[in-house]
Amino acid sequence: MSELPGSNLEVLLDAEQIARRVRELAAQISTDYRGRPLRLVGILKGAWVFLADLARHLNLEVTVDFLSIASYGDNSYSSGAVRITKDLDQSIEGLDVLVVEDILDTGRTFHYLEGVLSAHQPNSLKLVTLLDKVSRRLIPVRADYVGFEIPDVFVVGYGLDYHQKYRQLRDVRFLPSVPSV
Ligand code: IMP
Ligand code: MG
Repeated sequence: MSELPGSNLEVLLDAEQIARRVRELAAQISTDYRGRPLRLVGILKGAWVFLADLARHLNLEVTVDFLSIASYGDNSYSSGAVRITKDLDQSIEGLDVLVVEDILDTGRTFHYLEGVLSAHQPNSLKLVTLLDKVSRRLIPVRADYVGFEIPDVFVVGYGLDYHQKYRQLRDVRFLPSVPSV
């Protein structure tokens, strides 16, 4: 087979590092929610790989649902205007909800989600993100659990895409020359 697209890009976080950190996060979350059922809400599509790995290391009774969102305009970064393209299948009222995101960037997406989800009156609402680009924050949201803080670079792999490509890469890699917005 010819070379996998993106396998020549520089690695920021390799698969082993990611796996180790995912196990640490899962241990922390399992301790924090001990004895309480947890609803994971994955944000499609970017969070699907992270959610699959995280869920399998949680020592908790877990149920899973997904929300799909799209942002208008440019589709490498979120444009600010976010909308839901696939809603939750099940009610989250009264539940402990942990939103699972691939990356926290400007904070607009999670700010929007926080409003929408808290209107459904969960018992608690927290966020775990694999990656956090702290320096790009425009809205002061913070994640309760962060895998890795990363600099202001565009990354792909482990679920993250550029124009829908590279999600299957096992490592998180730099994609040079994506104009930041
Ligand atoms: P926020 O609303 O700016 O926090 O946007 C987060 C969303 O922007 C993510 O869910 C990604 O879809 C996208 N995004 C931001 N930075 C990157 C990146 O480095 N690689 C891939 N997608 C990114
Ligand atoms: Mg995304």
